[in-house]
Amino acid sequence: MSLRLNNTAPDFTAETTKGTIRFHEWIGEGWAMLFSHPKDFTPVCTTELGYMARIEPEFAKRNCKIIGLSVDPVESHLKWEKDIKETQGTAVSYPMIGDPTLTIAKLYDMLPAEEPGTSEGRTAATNQTVRSVFMIGPDKKIKLQLTYPMTTGRNFNEILRVLDSMQLTAAHKVATPVNWNEGEDVIIVPAVSDAEAKEKYPQGWKTIKPYLRIVSQPSKLN
Ligand code: BEZ
Repeated sequence: MSLRLNNTAPDFTAETTKGTIRFHEWIGEGWAMLFSHPKDFTPVCTTELGYMARIEPEFAKRNCKIIGLSVDPVESHLKWEKDIKETQGTAVSYPMIGDPTLTIAKLYDMLPAEEPGTSEGRTAATNQTVRSVFMIGPDKKIKLQLTYPMTTGRNFNEILRVLDSMQLTAAHKVATPVNWNEGEDVIIVPAVSDAEAKEKYPQGWKTIKPYLRIVSQPSKLN
C-alpha cells in the first residue's frame, strides 16, 4: 500500500556515502528530507544534487537533515560526487543511500509503474527511482510527498518554502496562503474563534470574510 501524509515514515537500515545508518536514529529530533533521483551520472540529477549541496546550509538552519537515494551502489555515488563538485561548484556533504536491491525504493514506492504488456517484467528504466521527495517531521511522520517525472528537475527552493510553512503552522494555529513566503501575512485557521484570536493577536487582524482572516506572521519562536 502506498504511503500517505501522516503515516509514520518506514524505518530502515542502509548503506550510504557516510557509512551505515538507521534512518529514524539518523533523523534524531529534527526534520529530514529523503529525496531520490533516477540515476548517477545523468545530467538533470547532476544539477539537482549539486544545487542541494549548495543550499544544504539553508536546510541545516531549519534543523532539517537531507539524504539522497538512488538504486546505484554507494561506490557509484562516491565517484559521481567528484563530477558534481567539478561541474556544479559545491561538494556534496549530505549522505547518499545506495539501494541496488531496491529495498528502500520499494518501501517508499519510489519506482514508476511497470509498462503494461512487457513479458519480462521490470526493465532497466522502470528499475530507476523517480524524483521523489519525502519531508519527515520530528515525530517521524510524513509531512509532504512530491513525485516529479524523470525529465523535469525539481525546484528545491519550493521545498524550503514549504518547510518554512510547515514549521510555522506546526507552532501556531495559522495556515499560509497561495505563494506565501517567509515573513508574509498568514491566515488564522477557522478553528480559532475571534475571542481566541483577540488574545493571540492583540494588534488585530483583517477580516475579509468570517472564514478569511489575515494577520501578520507570528514569530516561530513563541
Ligand atoms: C537525468 O537526470 O538527466 C535523467 C535521468 C533519468 C532519465 C532522464 C533524465
